[in-house]
Amino acid sequence: MCGIIGFVGREPAAPILLDGLARMEYRGYDSAGVAVRSETKGLQVKKTKGRLKVLSDLIHGGADLEGNLGIGHTRWATHGEPNDINAHPHVSENGRIAIVHNGIIENYLELKEHLQKLGVTFQSETDSEVVAQLLEYHYNECHNMLEAVGRVLRRIEGSYAFGIICADYPNALIAARKDSPLILGYGENGNFIASDVTAIIKYTRDVAYMDDGEIAVLTADSIDVFDDELVPVEKHRSTVDWDVSAAEKGGYPHFMLKEIMEQPEAIRKTVSPRIKNGRVVLDDLHLTEEYVRDISRIFIIACGSSYHVGMVSKYNWEKLMRRPVEVTLASEFRYCDPLVDEKSLVVVISQSGETLDTMAAMREAKRRGGRTLAIVNVVGSSIAREADDVLYTWAGPEIAVATTKAYSTQLVLMDLVGLYLADLLGTVEQSEYDAILTEVQSLPEKMQEMLNRDTEDIQYFASRYFNHDSIFFIGRNLDYAMGMEGSLKLKEISYIHSEAYASGELKHGTISLIEQGTLVVALGTYAPLFDKAMSNVVEVKARGAEVLALTTEDFREKMEKTADATVAVPVTHPVLQPSLGVVPLQLFSYYVALQRGCDIDKPRNLAKSVTVE
Ligand code: G6P
Repeated sequence: MCGIIGFVGREPAAPILLDGLARMEYRGYDSAGVAVRSETKGLQVKKTKGRLKVLSDLIHGGADLEGNLGIGHTRWATHGEPNDINAHPHVSENGRIAIVHNGIIENYLELKEHLQKLGVTFQSETDSEVVAQLLEYHYNECHNMLEAVGRVLRRIEGSYAFGIICADYPNALIAARKDSPLILGYGENGNFIASDVTAIIKYTRDVAYMDDGEIAVLTADSIDVFDDELVPVEKHRSTVDWDVSAAEKGGYPHFMLKEIMEQPEAIRKTVSPRIKNGRVVLDDLHLTEEYVRDISRIFIIACGSSYHVGMVSKYNWEKLMRRPVEVTLASEFRYCDPLVDEKSLVVVISQSGETLDTMAAMREAKRRGGRTLAIVNVVGSSIAREADDVLYTWAGPEIAVATTKAYSTQLVLMDLVGLYLADLLGTVEQSEYDAILTEVQSLPEKMQEMLNRDTEDIQYFASRYFNHDSIFFIGRNLDYAMGMEGSLKLKEISYIHSEAYASGELKHGTISLIEQGTLVVALGTYAPLFDKAMSNVVEVKARGAEVLALTTEDFREKMEKTADATVAVPVTHPVLQPSLGVVPLQLFSYYVALQRGCDIDKPRNLAKSVTVE
């Protein structure tokens, strides 16, 4: 939530800041702003409510702002409505210090009251402004910006990534981080800070990840990092291998469609290096056979779509491993006094690796002695760095707020991990192991074949159903878990009310909502329970529902006899079927949202990386 960027170097800062913000707009798009410092004009701040485009037009692509030092921000509002005043950067009362902030200052009210008593006047309702004012206060005390930043950090509570500039320091950008992501970029023509590497890969791939409590001072030629006691710290630099084009639309009308189309390749990249000579090889996983045998319980913790991956994995892992697997929303797990102990394996799934609830839940699990394994897409992200073990999905940068390729790669990676653990435990037959592994490897091809097909039928269904007010997704077992994702995709980008139900549970209440013309998306891709799925289709049809069914090619004919419309996906091993089944659901949501004229890549009220509680 919220994206921050900063640049100091030998080029005009404003266009670089705008360009970086454009690549991070998925983090929030309530307002945007920049502050740039120049010799002649001092600190110039421009900020405005609305999308980045509004800001960019206002400052003519950055041409209006002179100066080679600046910070920028794109906001997902928490404290204070999205308006011009609450937009970042925030400037101290004397106009000499500007800051951008991602995170939440929890004790801001107390600090604000304290400063107000000292006569400071605040402009905004934000928690962030308190930091600008507090910086001015401490800077006036010690006349040293680094020392002032250190003093402020000791007084604030909460999470933050800051970019700070001060009129008295014409060549320096200061950054600090705790519990919100912040990356340092070492460029040829200057240096950068950013919430996300995608913002700066156009300029440099040479990066370092700031750790909690660190403060960095950047000039055009150097980056010095200090710990919270202001003792210098040596940073490990690494090279980002993401391609710039991966963060651009490449001819597609939306990132979401591009990312749907990229799924076969993303799955291939995630799976191929992990299968050698007919075995799953997870070199980065340091779990001994002895430890695995001793696991008494497995927890899967995540939010949003990552949680839905956990739901699929629960079914699959329990089948393969015969061990209890509990899937819990991270926001619930952290406060539920979880029964985690030394014999618990705690798997956390997160595309961004920065989701605050997931991070907090992981820390709670660790505190209780659990061993943590993170499934993460963003290399060097906070969750990746704090987990005991990390396995990366190789989806590449995902920009659309509604996840597609990250979800798919998480799903296959979890299948591989399940298979690997089951093999260690000796709970999976060799023939089953081989069958799943063969099919995992053919997923990219089967998915590609689906995506190559004309999507006219899905577009047609979208045009037929886009006006419905409420849509139900029903299914059993893996189809239920997959339906949760289908339903979330639809509601997040098309704003249609939609729910996923376990089909068997319908008759305990929800079926009362089915009436003439209600759209039900019936999922019948899980072969072992196909007949049960059919019975539920018949049940809802009898109550007047219009049924759009999703099944596999071998059941298409049967399904067509009952459903109003049917989409069929290629057959694979039943445990992998959601990997193929989810694709038409993603496309359906996409085309429904398109028909409704929604802002597909940036749905209202949402952000991709949720770094607040
Ligand atoms: C947000 C995104 C979802 C994502 C969820 C969890 O809600 O819009 O697409 O599934 O956060 O994010 P994570 O990065 O932890 O997977």
